[in-house]
Amino acid sequence: ASLEERCNRILRDMEGSLTARDRVGIQDFVLLDAYTSESAVLDNLRKRFNENLIYTYIGTLLVSVNPYKELGIYTKKQMDIYMGVNFFELPPHIYALADNVYRTMLTETNNHFILISGESGAGKTEASKKILQFYAVSCPSTKLLDNVRDRLLLSNPVLEAFGNAKTLKNDNSSRFGKYMDIQFDHMGGAVGGHILSYLLEKSRVVHQNHGERSFHIFYQLVEGGEEDLLRWLGLERNCQCYSYLVQGECAKVSSVNDKSDWKTVRKALSVIEFSESNIESLFAIIASVLHLGNVTFVADSQGYATLNNSPEIHWLSKLLGIPAQVIQVGLTHRKIEARSEEVLSPFTVDQAVYAKDALAKAIYGRTFTWLVNELNESLANKDSSRKTVIGLLDIYGFEVFSVNSFEQFCINYCNEKLQQLFIQLTLKSEQEEYEMEGIEWESVPYFNNKIICDLVEAKFKGIISVLDEECLRPGEATDMTFLEKLEEKMGGHAHFVTHKLADQKTRKTLERGDFRLLHYAGEVTYKIFHLQVMRQSKNAIVKHCFPSTEPDSKKRPETVATQFKSSLVGLTEILMSKEPWYVRCMKPNEGKKPGLFDDVLVRHQVKYLGLMEHLRVRRAGFAYRRRYEIFLQRYKPLCPDTWPNWKGTAAEGVECLVKHLGYKPDEYKMGRTKIFIRHPRTLFATEDAFEVCKHELATRIQAKYKGYRVKGDYMRQRQAATKIETCWRGMKARREREKRAWAVKVIKRFIKGFMTRNQPACVDNTEYLAFVRQNYLTRLKENLPKTVVDKNTWLTPPPIMQEASQMLRKLYTRHMVRRYVQGIMTERKAQLQIKGLTSSIFKGTKENYPHSVGIPFVDTRISKPHTFPQYSVPVVKYDRNGFRPRFRQLIYTGSAAYLVEEAKIKQRVEFNNLKGVSVSTLSDNFLILHVQCEDIKQKGDLVLQCDYLFEALTKLCLVANKHNFIKVVQGSVKFDIQPGREGFVDFKSGQETMIYRAKNGHLMVVSMKLKTVWPFNSQNEQIHFLNYY
Ligand SMILES: Nc1ncnc2c1ncn2[C@@H]1O[C@H](COP(=O)(O)OP(=O)(O)O)[C@@H](O)[C@H]1O
Ligand SMILES: [Mg+2]
Repeated sequence: ASLEERCNRILRDMEGSLTARDRVGIQDFVLLDAYTSESAVLDNLRKRFNENLIYTYIGTLLVSVNPYKELGIYTKKQMDIYMGVNFFELPPHIYALADNVYRTMLTETNNHFILISGESGAGKTEASKKILQFYAVSCPSTKLLDNVRDRLLLSNPVLEAFGNAKTLKNDNSSRFGKYMDIQFDHMGGAVGGHILSYLLEKSRVVHQNHGERSFHIFYQLVEGGEEDLLRWLGLERNCQCYSYLVQGECAKVSSVNDKSDWKTVRKALSVIEFSESNIESLFAIIASVLHLGNVTFVADSQGYATLNNSPEIHWLSKLLGIPAQVIQVGLTHRKIEARSEEVLSPFTVDQAVYAKDALAKAIYGRTFTWLVNELNESLANKDSSRKTVIGLLDIYGFEVFSVNSFEQFCINYCNEKLQQLFIQLTLKSEQEEYEMEGIEWESVPYFNNKIICDLVEAKFKGIISVLDEECLRPGEATDMTFLEKLEEKMGGHAHFVTHKLADQKTRKTLERGDFRLLHYAGEVTYKIFHLQVMRQSKNAIVKHCFPSTEPDSKKRPETVATQFKSSLVGLTEILMSKEPWYVRCMKPNEGKKPGLFDDVLVRHQVKYLGLMEHLRVRRAGFAYRRRYEIFLQRYKPLCPDTWPNWKGTAAEGVECLVKHLGYKPDEYKMGRTKIFIRHPRTLFATEDAFEVCKHELATRIQAKYKGYRVKGDYMRQRQAATKIETCWRGMKARREREKRAWAVKVIKRFIKGFMTRNQPACVDNTEYLAFVRQNYLTRLKENLPKTVVDKNTWLTPPPIMQEASQMLRKLYTRHMVRRYVQGIMTERKAQLQIKGLTSSIFKGTKENYPHSVGIPFVDTRISKPHTFPQYSVPVVKYDRNGFRPRFRQLIYTGSAAYLVEEAKIKQRVEFNNLKGVSVSTLSDNFLILHVQCEDIKQKGDLVLQCDYLFEALTKLCLVANKHNFIKVVQGSVKFDIQPGREGFVDFKSGQETMIYRAKNGHLMVVSMKLKTVWPFNSQNEQIHFLNYY
């Protein structure tokens, strides 16, 4: 799986570069056709640098050019963009590399390291910080993990304070090599860390070149330290007071703020959980170095160094906890072990100064080591579960100065080792892939620097071996004897030259005391090392300070070189077990200026960083490889046989495709699962063809796709419509069915109810009957009779409502009557009462009575009413003899009725004397007043005809206060003409009204038969009458 992933990585690498190659320059040098040309590489770097594109790949190696300005490409947003995205899909970036390493580690659960190299000031430390920051943001976060993350991040300012200094090249130059492990759990959370430091430049403590400073921490302490602390340490707040701080004559640097850096460091120290007592001791030692620097010696009479009772000794004694006496002796004497005895031999002033400086360096060096150990203690993850790590190696690249000393030798040796590591790891993986694919391994034309490594480190034969021997050899070893030894041993080695060994031409460039190594990155000429420096100093004071760490004195002491060699071997072991990733940093100019690209300087770095070698190894063999499936998938549109689908195996498809494209046989090889293409240009041609083809295809696919989409939409809509329709119909049908079922039930119940309606109340008929009742009552409500006389409109009730109907009808009638009665006026009431009386007299007796009902009664019928107020009406009086009609007025007073002719009373009838009144049953208007006649002089009964018969008679009843004296007589009425003499009025019906004296001497009254028959009872008559109004 790991190999597979690696292959994929390479593939992605290619693809990304292909699509991006049209941008500024190319993003990946592997695809540079002129990959052996330094100028082409340089051109590409320059082109990109001018567009602020500081990153470029060589495969998975990242080349970074220091922009010396803020580019705004390290924001949280940028981090998000690069998180979890395929390496080559985005422009090259340090985050892409960091993310890719992290993801590979998680998927392959193996260990990785990122080697960051470059000259001082090229941006290595910045790059490593960027990587750390990226992990701090992108890794999973919990409270616990955040704590680790903070410690990891804060270990940086602490290490930088103690290990960085301002140099001419870099205001914050790391003066040590640093390897930092970040440990991750299986979920990708950062759970711990470990730091290894290499080659701290201790000499800086006692000496700085002009324009440079000692380590930051000294200045931070003096500038930023709290008053109390400084007093306790015996320090002044003035860097000028300390000779170790003013060697370079630039204690102040504009780009560095010592005061605020001090605060950062103090805060970091407490977060990392340094105890207060440890912090105190730490600064006591730092202060003691400053005091030591101010110690001066004077020569005594014999020329030996003595201390004049300087206050520094007091402070040193206090801060280091060593008796002043021991310090005094230690600083001025060398201890010589002779057999079992220790002999003190005094120093000259020069020797004492040298010893003092050596002491300061040793103290500082060991303090730094202690600090790193403390940091490791704090970063350590005590959990024993399996972890994977990403190592960050921030170490100087090749250093070449006009004068190169032992330090440069170590650094360059280190780079030589790292190059060897790279070759081994890269070639190994290449070879593995070739073997897997069954492709013949072709030897690659690159330079293997193993020979140089051997030259330096080989046992017994290597430079370091020789050096050790010379240092430890008893007797007088000098620098020159060392050189001679080297010449003796290395003579003839292709990569080693000295003045003596060199040919005529080369000799001119070499001093006698120099030797030259031909490193893989170029030649470097070293000054022969001072053996004095190589030897490990043994100092009584150091022993006091660091008793337990002092190496076993019985053991053969190691030289600095051997120590370094073994630490490098250790480092190589650490790295060999991990997957390598590379960041190569470069600086564009020496002046720390933005936007300035110094061709000479960059060309120099391209060379010394081994970029060309790296590129060559990367390009050895085949530049491009890709799984058949993927290759076919991408390029199949280029061949009619493979487009749109290839039926056979992918390998056959690819074969067919490349034949069609015209690949030459030596341009590619078919592996087991992959095609290998030798030159990028072959691939570019294919890619260009694909680019053209893609546009055509895109248009076609677009059209197809659009059609497909539209059709799809249409189908979906239609389906949806059908579905909705079906659902709707179903629902309607269900509702209809429910309604029908319900109706059937209701109808059934109705029929059953109907059939059982006459049975006593039971389950079957209650509902029906309730319905019938309600229905009847509702209908009745809407169809109530409007008036009392309206007899036919009362709704016929169903049988069960018979009784209720009757009661209701009665109630309602009464209600109507009451309403009516309440509504009528007093006059009307009186009128009606009179009419009632009339009715009681004549109803059913006299034929023309009904006609009178509708005509209201008045109080007088005479136009000019007399003083008699009661009643008056015109009448026709028939003579008792001869029955001649005469017009008269009949007037009632309170006591009598008068028959009057134009104000002349013809007859007066006392009501007391009124015996009765006779009328016929027929339609005539005759009335006969029967009068009591005791006196002959008195006139007899009155035969009268009155148009207002009923009125007149009713009034009479009222006025005379007589009841039952009106007789309705059938046939003829007998009356008294005179007392004792009778007359008759005969009544009969006929065709026309006639009144005449019949032959028998009777008055014959013929009245017309009235057709109207009155069916009403008395009540109705009244109502009927009322309706006339
Ligand atoms: N990516 C970068 N962007 C902006 N400035 C940078 C970048 N890398 C480095 N620098 C500048 O260059 C200076 C030196 O970088 P540094 O990482 O300390 O160099 P090195 O560790 O290689 O000696 C930094 O202090 C910073 O000002
Ligand atoms: Mg650095």
